Amino acid sequence: MVIANRLYVSIERTGNIKMSKLLIEGGYKLKGKVNIGGFKNAAVAIIPAAIIAGDKCIIENLPNIDDVHALENILQQMGTDAKFDPDKKTMFIDSSKIESCHANYDVAKELRASYYLLGAGLGRFKKAKVAFPGGCDIGSRPIDQHIKGFEALGAKVKINHGIIEVEAEELIGTEIYLDVASVGATINIMMAAVRAKGKTIIENAAKEPHIVDVANFLNSMGADIKGAGTDVIRIYGVEKMKGSTYSVIPDQIEAGTYMVMTAATGGDVIIDNVIPKHLEPITAKLKEMGVKIKEYGESLRVVADSPLKKVNIKTLVYPGFPTDLQQPIAALLTIAKGTSIVTETIYEGRFKHVDELKRMGAKIKVDGRIAVIEGVEGLSGAKVKATDLRAGAALVVAALIADGTTEISNVHYIDRGYEIIEEKLLGLGAKIKRE
Ligand code: EPU
Repeated sequence: MVIANRLYVSIERTGNIKMSKLLIEGGYKLKGKVNIGGFKNAAVAIIPAAIIAGDKCIIENLPNIDDVHALENILQQMGTDAKFDPDKKTMFIDSSKIESCHANYDVAKELRASYYLLGAGLGRFKKAKVAFPGGCDIGSRPIDQHIKGFEALGAKVKINHGIIEVEAEELIGTEIYLDVASVGATINIMMAAVRAKGKTIIENAAKEPHIVDVANFLNSMGADIKGAGTDVIRIYGVEKMKGSTYSVIPDQIEAGTYMVMTAATGGDVIIDNVIPKHLEPITAKLKEMGVKIKEYGESLRVVADSPLKKVNIKTLVYPGFPTDLQQPIAALLTIAKGTSIVTETIYEGRFKHVDELKRMGAKIKVDGRIAVIEGVEGLSGAKVKATDLRAGAALVVAALIADGTTEISNVHYIDRGYEIIEEKLLGLGAKIKRE
């Protein structure tokens, strides 16, 4: 009976999401205050990490997004007692009764972050079996660095029929140098190494804020991780871990997107519940464009009352400009005075929003990893489709600018990473509805 109900909920959810469209009438200035949710990319690692202790955890400040619902579903299918309360933004996870970590294709394909079950399963059981992860199609997304890390710790990795199987008799601390400073590999190796014998050192580790958040969560469960947030992370293996209650950091990408939306409409918005330090790369670029930004502890005020100037953007690992905000800011640059150059160094396939923006009157030329954006007077509403999560956010930015109504389809991509986007935008005075 419980399983039947769960299935019903999941089918109903998917059905609604896949069919829905956002209709946005552009030209209204955003005004007021928006509250930023928990960081998606931290949440999707912290939820799988919770199984490592084999105890009860409560994860707070989770965003109410599809990726969190998908992980709740994966944990439940594995036999974990997991319950997400979207109103309280909290997930209760009791993994004490599970004896293995196994995610099949049907559930793993729903999101990229299902690969974190490999590291979490190794950390808890010294083994895991997970189908190749899904996620947005933004270019090739290899996991060779994750595998290199697992193998260095002593695990055997087999890939058969689309399933990745990792298993170790014993995990032994070692030194791992990452060829690329991968967020996913850094987190996965930390999770696998927390209960390994001895010390693991990750060199050329990623430094993104969510690496620190995941390390803090693991430490709250009894792990001993030092140096997260720098490019050398030391993990001292511990024998036992325990459950914990932990609150996820605010979503810097959601915050950055609302900052861009405010700038796009010439608005005046308080972006509340943020860590301003994490927003520095986007704050600096928006200021360069002529947007006024003031910091107030845990909030920022964004005021856009003068014409926007062109800027050049190059995506880089943290603290460089985040690839996840490249698409939203590209939409803003379509109406900046002058010609801007956007260079995408992380994902070669992250320009799929460009053709859709062109339908709305944008002037953009793409050559490989470079987009040349010539500012135009304005955009016009059109029927467009989101091709991935941040491309969807870029189309919302463009729709807020455009003259007339824009109809955005494939909204399920946006729902993967932006909670109650239409409610938040309605609260800021946008004309938006979901159909
Ligand atoms: N890479 C490798 N080998 C690996 C891993 C990565 O070559 O084993 C390369 C990738 O191809 C890419 C670069 O390294 O060129 C960075 O990849 P990384 O591993 O850092 O990214 P990820 O873990 O797959 C996470 C976020 C992405 C975000 C990136 C970069 C999650 C679930 N995903 O992906 O988020 O763009 O870090 O910050 O946390 C999004 O939120 O829209 C999104 C795509």
